[in-house]
Amino acid sequence: MTNKYKYFVANWKMFGETKNIKSISRVIELSKLRKFSKAKIVYCPPYTLLYEFVKKLKKTKIEVGAQDCHEANTNGPFTGSINSKMIKNLGCKYVIIGHSENRISGDTNELINKKIKISLSNNLKILFCLGENFKEKKNNKTKRILASQINKGLKNIKNIENVIISYEPVWSIGSGIVPKHNELKNNILFIKKILNKKSKLKNIKVLYGGSVNPKNVKDLSKIPQIDGFLIGGASQNINKFIDIIKKTFN
Ligand code: 13P
Repeated sequence: MTNKYKYFVANWKMFGETKNIKSISRVIELSKLRKFSKAKIVYCPPYTLLYEFVKKLKKTKIEVGAQDCHEANTNGPFTGSINSKMIKNLGCKYVIIGHSENRISGDTNELINKKIKISLSNNLKILFCLGENFKEKKNNKTKRILASQINKGLKNIKNIENVIISYEPVWSIGSGIVPKHNELKNNILFIKKILNKKSKLKNIKVLYGGSVNPKNVKDLSKIPQIDGFLIGGASQNINKFIDIIKKTFN
């Protein structure tokens, strides 16, 4: 049982149709129970479902976020893109930025920095993803990569109050493999140490993402420095997502 707020961010990635929204009612009911009053639940469905989610979750404690945004602050000729102003206008509170799936398809640290700045200026909270890939881990470069992603991604950003870090080792995403307890704890502590140097804020949140499921969440929750989870595959299955929340608080 934990007394701290814990985040449960559902990243639906490129999955989900309108018919899947009905099942969210079960998560809404769960969020009303006292036992789960410290669960901060955020849904990040694909753009196509954002408006439906905002409508459905309007009078609840559950919040909605987008999975990415364009770095421009104005409208413009960017086919297929959505900017953070549009996301905010829709009623979203969060945006995921820097996910490794987007880094792989071209998001550099510099672009991520622009996206974060613009999104903060539009009063969105940022779920800033970072993490090393397998090769970097094998070559003992994890800390160097994490420090570089943080320093470049948050360059010239003084107020990081609305930035939540999500540590997602690339090799653990969708693989069923989670880092060893000590390794994870050390990396989360390392991230917190860098952020503490950057900002006087004491309460910087760091989530963990990568193959979180109902079976491993209890163990992961034993690391007190983890402030919650960014959940991909298991969040698209309503039973698994509910189980993850329940097991964290049991
Ligand atoms: P999985 O939970 O499917 O491993 O995905 C993690 C992730 O990428 C969340 O953003």
